[in-house]
Amino acid sequence: MTAQPLLERYRDLLAEPDERFPITLGEGGTPLLHARRLGDELGLDRLFLKFEGTNPTGSFKDRGMVLAVNRAAASGARAVVCASTGNTSASAAAYAAAAGLPCHVVLPAGKVARGKLSQAVAAGARLVMVDGSFDDALGAVRRLGEEGVAAVVNSINPDRLAGQQTAAFEIVDALGESPEAVALPVGNAGNITALWAGFVRYAEAGVTPGGRRPRMLGFQAEGAAPIVNDAPVERPETAATAIRIGNPASWSGAVAARDESGGSIEALTDAEILEMQLRILRSEGLFCEPASAAGVAGVERLAREERLHRSEGVVCILTGHGLKDPDVVAGEEGTLTPVDSDLASIRRAMGL
Ligand code: F0G
Repeated sequence: MTAQPLLERYRDLLAEPDERFPITLGEGGTPLLHARRLGDELGLDRLFLKFEGTNPTGSFKDRGMVLAVNRAAASGARAVVCASTGNTSASAAAYAAAAGLPCHVVLPAGKVARGKLSQAVAAGARLVMVDGSFDDALGAVRRLGEEGVAAVVNSINPDRLAGQQTAAFEIVDALGESPEAVALPVGNAGNITALWAGFVRYAEAGVTPGGRRPRMLGFQAEGAAPIVNDAPVERPETAATAIRIGNPASWSGAVAARDESGGSIEALTDAEILEMQLRILRSEGLFCEPASAAGVAGVERLAREERLHRSEGVVCILTGHGLKDPDVVAGEEGTLTPVDSDLASIRRAMGL
């Protein structure tokens, strides 16, 4: 027996009457782990990590892609198309393959992590690299959508955001209540918009005890922080390529999520993000991609500045798997000199 598919589990909140969802890759149902060691270090007794890297293509995108592609297929789309910093293209390519639809992706040249690129290529997606940013790529994709060439499966498609609400539902289900705060990276700003909508929806549906909702804490990279600076960024730059976005499509949704929830959106340096990526792995054993560490790096700052308190329940969304971007954590592996294979030599090399 396999677990009930995500869209069936939450069909009361997501589906039209009698709607069928034949395409599923086993998305959702990701673990929410109590990060005791890291929480101790940060001074938070109830720090939780929601590891979205266990989704079928290794990121949270699958939650919305499953709904978008089911509906595109049901409505007779001939192809799907998206712009992407990487994860959306990996997800679109996989779900389009399962639906038997061609998939076209437009990517910023040279700025997509290797794991994500290989996922899209291997799934048979047609890749177009542009000499420009994600924002340029999304502009072109919007036009193709308007011309009816293919179904757009970026988060400007409301089905994507509807599906991504399920992460909020799962958090409340797992904790039995709303956490005080939820922290996550912000790029195109779809996910913070979707999660907030999900928490509001669950509270209004009477599922969340007390109708409570968390403060939404969003984090951008300093070189790609349009919402923090209240101005688009022409040439966004960050090592966290997933959130290398200068003019987010869901900008107003993110601002509303921040303000209605009493939260904040702040910027972090690449160094803060990359240090936290390793710290999460070394204290909790979870390998997330750089952008995913931004939520936790931000929480570290807020706890240090006593803007988050020890007893508050805080959930950080680890949005994607670390294996997506193997190059950013260049290991020692390549530089080690081999030793003889006898036990004494190995013992010596280990320093034991
Ligand atoms: N984390 C990861 C791993 C992502 O891939 C993205 C976005 C985000 C966070 C930010 O989420 O855009 O909803 O604010 N990736 C998109 C893509 C842009 O094309 O894969 P957001």
